[in-house]
Amino acid sequence: MKLWTVKKLVEKKPIGEKVKLGGWIKSQRKSKAFTFIVLNDGSTQDDVQIIADDVLEGYEEFVKCGTGSSMLLHGEVVESQGKQDFEIRATKVEFFHRADDDYPLQKKGTSMEFLREVSHLRPRTNTFGAVFRIRHALAQATHKFFNDNGFFYVNTPIVTAMDAEGAGELFRVSTLDANNPPKNDKGEVDFSKDYFGKESYLCVTGQLEGEAFACGMGSIYTFGPTFRSENSNTARHLAEFWMIEPEVAFADLDDVAKLGADYIQYMINYALEHCAPELNMLNKFISKGLIDKLNHVAKTPFKQITYTEAVDILTSSKKKFDYKVEWGADLQTEHERFLTDEHFNGPVIVTDYPKDIKAFYMKQNPDGKTVRAMDILVPGVGEIIGGSQREEDYDKLTKRMAEMDLEEDLYRWYLDLRRFGTVPHSGFGLGFERAVMYITGMTNIRDVIPFYRTPGHVEF
Ligand code: 4AD
Ligand code: MG
Repeated sequence: MKLWTVKKLVEKKPIGEKVKLGGWIKSQRKSKAFTFIVLNDGSTQDDVQIIADDVLEGYEEFVKCGTGSSMLLHGEVVESQGKQDFEIRATKVEFFHRADDDYPLQKKGTSMEFLREVSHLRPRTNTFGAVFRIRHALAQATHKFFNDNGFFYVNTPIVTAMDAEGAGELFRVSTLDANNPPKNDKGEVDFSKDYFGKESYLCVTGQLEGEAFACGMGSIYTFGPTFRSENSNTARHLAEFWMIEPEVAFADLDDVAKLGADYIQYMINYALEHCAPELNMLNKFISKGLIDKLNHVAKTPFKQITYTEAVDILTSSKKKFDYKVEWGADLQTEHERFLTDEHFNGPVIVTDYPKDIKAFYMKQNPDGKTVRAMDILVPGVGEIIGGSQREEDYDKLTKRMAEMDLEEDLYRWYLDLRRFGTVPHSGFGLGFERAVMYITGMTNIRDVIPFYRTPGHVEF
């Protein structure tokens, strides 16, 4: 017999058909001669109601199964007497497993904090089923968006020797004996004896290698894991997150700013179209007004201002900030929040930041003070995209690298791109979890990645 899913059943409503279906019990209601079971298999937001009556083989044992128990059964799809479109009258139980009594998801309304402790079981809840089906849809949307726009998907290395963002937030990759590492004459750890023959790390970005492919294939994007050992225990930082990094040859900053806005709007429309039941649930229980917000953002052009204009808006706002607003300093979360949540009440693209707070590779503006950088900020989440036009001039780039004390040897190949037919090019990185937060209305980044890694936390 064909194995069905609840999703397929809901789509087809095959009244009269004999089906085979597996899932986990959400709830159970018993009467004398039969039992109603609400079953969910995670394929969709909907549950399905099963009626089992006492003529069923093994009925006695079977109905002792409570919340969290699993079952695989055969049955007939019938019109429902209740509110549902249909229900299933069980004819045979092929398999069941009664969950232990301490199944942690018994109670309704368990807190997000508690659910993080049972990250391995939370995919069975309504909320997390919805979040992770949306996350899946957004990954599909990402590949479709870039493919339809002529981008090639490139996989960049995860292990690297470069700190491309220059922020020093690296996780070391090493096979040396941590207790007894080889030392050189100066008494320092001798990394020439390490696996790769030099110090190596998990990547903080795939951008530089992405640039190499853009400077040969035109438009590319990456979609991969990214690692940063930043010690920020916030609701928007992970030590391991996923980033999408498009890179476009011959494009300037405005081209990729538009690409970034188009991509975000595309993802929103894709979710609205493919994840209506999930968004409805989140709209009702997690984030009131979510669907109105998404509909609005999907069709409203993003505002675009320079960093200098942003500083002017913030200083003339008369609002009391914890961190002082000062030209030259990076925008803090509270400043970004003010711009998106209060001043513009929507996403905003901020460009041309001071060069001293940005990475070495960004294109230098003629003013000598700023670079062609951009961040896209969204309400509730803050920075969702960071990007820039890249410095394509060999001399300017090497000069900047020297100023920033970068080891030129490591970047020799990157500089080659500026020696052999250099071209203007631009790109950005979108933090996938930040996008999932924004589109689901979830407020903690730990709740939009299956198993989160943060300072002090590497469970599961
Ligand atoms: O702004 P970032 O650091 O930019 C880059 O890495 C560039 N190489 C991108 C490029 O131009 N190709 O990071 C990009 C985005 C941020 O805007 C944010 O959404 C996300 O990555 N991000 C994080 N997400 C979760 N946890 C963290 N610790 C993050 N750090 C950055
Ligand atoms: Mg950034």
